[in-house]
Amino acid sequence: MKNILVTGGAGFIGSNFIHYMLGKYTDIKVVNLDALTYSGNLENLSAVADDPRYTFVKGDICDQSLLDNLFKKYLFDTVVNFAAESHVDRSITDPQIFVTTNVLGTQTLLDVTRANWNLNPKDKYSRKYKDAVRFLHISTDEVYGALGTVGKFTELSPLAPNSPYSASKASSDMMVRAYHVTYGLPVNITRCSNNYGPYQFPEKLIPLMINNCLKNKPLPVYGDGMQIRDWLYVVDHCSAIDTVLRKGIVGEVYNIGGNNEKANIEIVKLIIQKLGKSEDLITYVADRPGHDRRYAIDNSKITTQLGWSPAYTFEQGIEQTINWYLTHTHWIERVVVGSYQDYYQRMYPD
Ligand code: NAD
Ligand code: TYD
Repeated sequence: MKNILVTGGAGFIGSNFIHYMLGKYTDIKVVNLDALTYSGNLENLSAVADDPRYTFVKGDICDQSLLDNLFKKYLFDTVVNFAAESHVDRSITDPQIFVTTNVLGTQTLLDVTRANWNLNPKDKYSRKYKDAVRFLHISTDEVYGALGTVGKFTELSPLAPNSPYSASKASSDMMVRAYHVTYGLPVNITRCSNNYGPYQFPEKLIPLMINNCLKNKPLPVYGDGMQIRDWLYVVDHCSAIDTVLRKGIVGEVYNIGGNNEKANIEIVKLIIQKLGKSEDLITYVADRPGHDRRYAIDNSKITTQLGWSPAYTFEQGIEQTINWYLTHTHWIERVVVGSYQDYYQRMYPD
C-alpha cells in the first residue's frame, strides 16, 4: 500500500480517511479523485492541500480515459472507492444519478483497474495481477434491507435493498463481486453502518439536527422517530478500512459496525440536551417512503478474523462530533448556502 487512489475523497468519510492515512503513514501517496458534487468540499482537506504526499484531481469516476491516465501516471496499487451519491432522501426524488455514479461509475473504475493491474491484458482469460494490489469498495449495511426488532446483519444476510440508494449500492457490490469471480480481480467490499463525525454534510440526521438546534430551527423527525440505526464514529470506520486493506482476505466482504444501536428520537434528544435547547424544537414530519425500520451490524467477522474493534464509545464520538461542529461554525455556514437552501425547502417545506 504505497500509491492509493481514493475516489470521493472530498466527501465526509473519504476526507476523514485521507486525514487518517496521511496521519498514520509517512510512506504513502494519495490521489483524491472527486467530482465535487454538492457534498464534495475541498475545505475538508485544506490541512493537507500542500502536503507533497497528497494530490487532488477533479473528475468523475465515470470518465474512463481520465481514470486510465491517472493509473498510468500514478501507478496505483490500491483503490478505495468512496465516490457515490450517498443520501437516501435524494435517491427517492432523483434515482437516476444514483445508478449513473454508483453502478456505472463503479463498473468503469473496475474496468480501468483491471486493465492496468492485469499482467497479461491481451489474454482475455488472464487472472494474473500485479503483486500486492487491492480494490476496496465502500458499501453500506443498507444493502441488506431492514431488520425487525431482533437479529443483526451478517455478511451472509441476503441482499434486499429497499431504497433507490441502497439498490444502487447493492448493484455496485454485485459488480465488484463479479469482477472478482469472473476476472480474479483482488477486491474487498466493506459494509458499514451509519457514520457520524466531523465534515458530514448537514443533510444527514446528526449534522442536520446539530445545525438546526444551533439556529433554534424545527428538528424534523420522520414518522414516530423509533427507527434504529447502529452508529459508527467515522474515525473507527477509517481504522477498519485500513485494517481491511492490510489484512483482508482477497474476495471477502467485511461488515463494520459500532455496536451502538439507537432510535432516532434518542439521538435528537441527546443533541438537544448537549446543546442546552428545548425539546419543543422537535417536529414530527411525514415518514420517508419505504423507510427501513432497523439496521444492526454483526461485526464478529472483522473483529475475530482481522482483530479490529471500534475504539470510541458513542458518548465519546458524539461529544467530539458536537464539539467539532461548535468550533467549525464557518464550515457549516459555507455549506448551508445556495443549493442546500433549495434542497432544504424542497425536503422540509414550511
Ligand atoms: P458524501 O456524499 O459525503 O461524499 C461523496 C463524495 O463522492 C463527494 O465528495 C462527491 O463529490 C463525490 N462524488 C459523487 N459522485 C462522484 C463521481 N461521479 N465521481 C467522483 N466523485 C464523485 O458521502 P459519504 O457519507 O462520505 O459516503 C462515502 C461512501 O460511504 C459512499 O460510497 C456511501 O455509500 C458509503 N456509506 C456512507 C455511510 C454514511 O453513514 N455516511 C454509511 C454507509 C456507507
Ligand atoms: P440519514 O442520516 O439520512 O441516514 P440513512 O437514511 O442512510 O440511515 O437518516 C438516519 C435516520 O434518521 C433515518 O432513519 C432517517 C432519519 N431522519 C429523520 O428522522 N429526519 C431527518 O431530517 C433526516 C435527515 C433523517
